[in-house]
Amino acid sequence: MDNMNAIGGYFQLELPKGKIYHEGAIALNTGRNALEYILRVRKYEKIHIPYFTCDVLLEPIQKLGIDFVFYNIDELLEPNFEYDSIRANEGFLYTNYFGLKDEFIAKLAVKCNNLIIDNAQSFYSKPLPNIDTFYSPRKFFGLPDGAYLFCDEKLLTNLNQDFSYGRFEHLLRRTDVSAEDGYSYFIENDKSLSNQTIKKMSNLTQALLKAIDYRETANIRKENYAFLHNQLKEFNLLKLNFDGSGVPMVYPFWNRNKELRQHLINNKVYTATYWPNVKEWVESNSLEYRLTDEVIYFPIDQRYGKKEMELIGKMVLDV
Ligand SMILES: Cc1ncc(COP(=O)(O)O)c(C=O)c1O
Repeated sequence: MDNMNAIGGYFQLELPKGKIYHEGAIALNTGRNALEYILRVRKYEKIHIPYFTCDVLLEPIQKLGIDFVFYNIDELLEPNFEYDSIRANEGFLYTNYFGLKDEFIAKLAVKCNNLIIDNAQSFYSKPLPNIDTFYSPRKFFGLPDGAYLFCDEKLLTNLNQDFSYGRFEHLLRRTDVSAEDGYSYFIENDKSLSNQTIKKMSNLTQALLKAIDYRETANIRKENYAFLHNQLKEFNLLKLNFDGSGVPMVYPFWNRNKELRQHLINNKVYTATYWPNVKEWVESNSLEYRLTDEVIYFPIDQRYGKKEMELIGKMVLDV
């Protein structure tokens, strides 16, 4: 008998039962598998992807034996590309970088055929009509896995259900012990998402996604981001549109001070590198290399508030 139908006996986790944010999306196991879904239903034979992205996107592309070609981006993080050259059997993937490219994507959707939007870094962005779009919510919330997909073509095979209970140790340890204590489990659990088949999102991840206060978490992100930008904008070499219309993932800060990253680590401020693989794919004088090597991506998420943002601002101004 289905576990969910049992009545009585021991309790499960106690979680608030709110609403999911991406109503109507196909709920899957990972972002990369959502891309695989798109590639399979659209039957693309080739895909254009940016050098500036995460190498796990190659997983489905190589699994399906599809050709891929890299493109470069400019300082606004927008493609250097002739969109007219895209053929009927080719997809074009664009990443909504750090949740800051909604406006550009609205324009891109008009001129680019076979567009695929990677919203792994922009959980809150709504999909545009008829544009294949996927999300990886664990980049925004404490979750073990999961993805949302908007695609009007359905895959006909029956998908197996994913189970997430074995991927919680880093989440539990970070809450129970410390960030340092859980770190190796984070690496391990993240690795375990590789080479999976396309699955339905686990019941556990679905339950966790209903327990999030999306309005509150979005507001906190926006406030933290605005606070940091206000403090640091005159030292920030990145000239993106920081107007705060979307809900950003991180605050990207480009400053040539080589000591800053180490200074932050010494003070237990951990910043992610987007993305280590890029340095292997491009020349060291390219923009993409510098975006990976020199830009610092400050956390601005719902765990933090003015106190932490002030500390970060002070650390930057101190070095
Ligand atoms: C920009 C981007 N797209 C897609 C993915 C893949 O998402 P997932 O890990 O859920 O497969 C990642 C990171 O993993 C990413 O950084």
